[in-house]
Amino acid sequence: MFTEQEKKAVYKVIETRRDVRSFLPDPLPEDAVRRILEAAHHGPSVGFMQPWNYILITSPTVKARLAWAVEKERKALAIHYEGERAEKFLKLKVEGLQEAPLTICVTCDPTRGGSHVLGRNSIPETDIMSTACAIQNMWLASCAEGIAMGWVSFYKKNDVRDILGIPPHIEPVALLSLGYTEQYPEAPILETEKWEKRLDLDTLIYHNQWGNT
Ligand SMILES: Cc1cc2nc3c(=O)[nH]c(=O)nc-3n(C[C@H](O)[C@H](O)[C@H](O)COP(=O)(O)O)c2cc1C
Repeated sequence: MFTEQEKKAVYKVIETRRDVRSFLPDPLPEDAVRRILEAAHHGPSVGFMQPWNYILITSPTVKARLAWAVEKERKALAIHYEGERAEKFLKLKVEGLQEAPLTICVTCDPTRGGSHVLGRNSIPETDIMSTACAIQNMWLASCAEGIAMGWVSFYKKNDVRDILGIPPHIEPVALLSLGYTEQYPEAPILETEKWEKRLDLDTLIYHNQWGNT
């Protein structure tokens, strides 16, 4: 179904995709943004409920307000760390909202499809899981387009609802910054900054029973 070259391209984009927080101001081509949104819209969703919406934000004023909400939350989160770790945490750059030419707020509507969406009756969070699948598609498509993307989740949902006029029952799942960058990282930034490292896959695979490596 796929040629060797196509298969390699898929794994290449999966492995080279990075979370990016530094952007150039250059605007993005509309057709590339459209393809990225189409990629999201082709993601899987529980009961095919397609719970997502995409708010495209280019207004510097709105971006500044979102950046304010994120900065407030970043400072609040610092209480979870002590000593050196706290210092390191506060030095980490966790967003590039004002630099990036485009921010996309991806939302999840838990009411879409009515109260008995196929499959969602058992695990209600499957609506958010579906939205996350759409976001990963956007991340991969952006990477393939040579466009950097960063996922920002440091915020109080009600702050983002207030800033973007989102109704109370809609979940703002992610703020995604998109733009070109001169610094597409080769490794996860949190690895380079010695905050975390990739776990050994073999220690995570079990056979037949939990814990049986
Ligand atoms: C659900 C989710 C929320 C995230 N929130 C943030 C965030 O608020 N700020 C940030 O800098 N990175 C955020 N990230 C990016 C992760 O830090 C990043 O994916 C991880 O360090 C691995 O790096 P990589 O994406 O470059 O492989 C988030 C990622 C996910 C999946």
